[in-house]
Amino acid sequence: MTGFDRAVDRRGTACIKWDFQEMDYGGKSGLLPFSIADADYRTYEPIVAALTARVQQGIIGYTDVEEAYTAAVAGWCARRHGWTVQPDWIVPTGGIVPAMCHAIEALTRPGAGVIVQPPVYDPFYSVIQAAGRKKLENPLIRDEAGYRMDLEGLRRLVEDGAQMLLLCSPHNPVCRVWTREELAQVAAICQGHDIVIVSDEIHWDLTLGDREHVTMGQFGEVAEQLIVCTSCSKTFNIAGLETSNLIIPGDRLRDRYRAYLFARYLFVPNTLGMEAVKAAYADGDAWVDEQQAFLTGNAEIVEAYLREHLPRVHMAEPQGTYLLWLDMTAYGKSSAELVERIAQAGAGLNAGSAYGSGYDGFVRMNVACPRAQLRAGLDCIRRALEPIEQEGSV
Ligand SMILES: Cc1ncc(COP(=O)(O)O)c(C=O)c1O
Repeated sequence: MTGFDRAVDRRGTACIKWDFQEMDYGGKSGLLPFSIADADYRTYEPIVAALTARVQQGIIGYTDVEEAYTAAVAGWCARRHGWTVQPDWIVPTGGIVPAMCHAIEALTRPGAGVIVQPPVYDPFYSVIQAAGRKKLENPLIRDEAGYRMDLEGLRRLVEDGAQMLLLCSPHNPVCRVWTREELAQVAAICQGHDIVIVSDEIHWDLTLGDREHVTMGQFGEVAEQLIVCTSCSKTFNIAGLETSNLIIPGDRLRDRYRAYLFARYLFVPNTLGMEAVKAAYADGDAWVDEQQAFLTGNAEIVEAYLREHLPRVHMAEPQGTYLLWLDMTAYGKSSAELVERIAQAGAGLNAGSAYGSGYDGFVRMNVACPRAQLRAGLDCIRRALEPIEQEGSV
């Protein structure tokens, strides 16, 4: 029924990952891509059907948010995330990254401190800089158990007057699914302070194995200071529709955010995006469950391959997202050099150094693809790294 393991030829469709490789890989093209976060398998077929039906009318005019739309979003929040969301809390928006830009500008003062927890999805840095706010870094702590938040560091920054926290949950790129206990501590630290929590939960449906995502929305004590960013884009592989939903339970916060959007005429939703969201959230549950199992299998394939062929590569425990975080520091090369060598061997990955200082020697690998592609990519990595061992630099 589902086609996660079926290759689709995306070349020649102006696809960023397949058709625009030259800039990222020193002029090279034709690489097997494992980079930008979309998937190389088809979306949920009822979405294709809904879009096709809508397009058949031949008019893609301005549309507004209908009740069926907010009901579909609220239904998903309740069914999949145990979160009761009132329809008027839902603020449809374009991409999550632009929405973060708006949130920073609308809800913090010029020069205000905004907290990020590196290593983190690189646009988190750009949106702060673009808004002229001050980036406050609270790096994740890494020990034998993996990555965790520095809760004491977070407390200090909050007490020192930071006005916003950009929380990445699940966390791209270290693959963490934060536990209820960890998130409860984040809520306790922020509660009562004049700080807005922007919880980017774009990957919230993409947990691996038996991990369970806990939405920040479940912590009622911070409801008045919370924006939860959600989307079908990663879950259903429809990122190109640029349609997301912010969920803002607090009336005051939501009014301020909406007023900012209205003043800038940023209130017309994407007509096709809304059709896709309704079709996805109507009953895409089984498809998402199958995808989770498929992605868990892909992460296991990578784990087994590294254990057998490249034991010096350390992979962060894959708990969520489809973006694996590979520590290749044992090879003594920069991220740029690793990416360059892997590209020469035929695969395109992301340099870990993009996600924070201190992560040179790391790379990020998107494994949302059919397994033949995944295995071919792993062989490319092996062909790139083995000569480094032979050069004697490790
Ligand atoms: C954590 C995170 N937030 C946001 C985005 C991008 O969201 P959008 O395309 O809706 O701007 C991504 C894409 O990879 C992501 O990983």
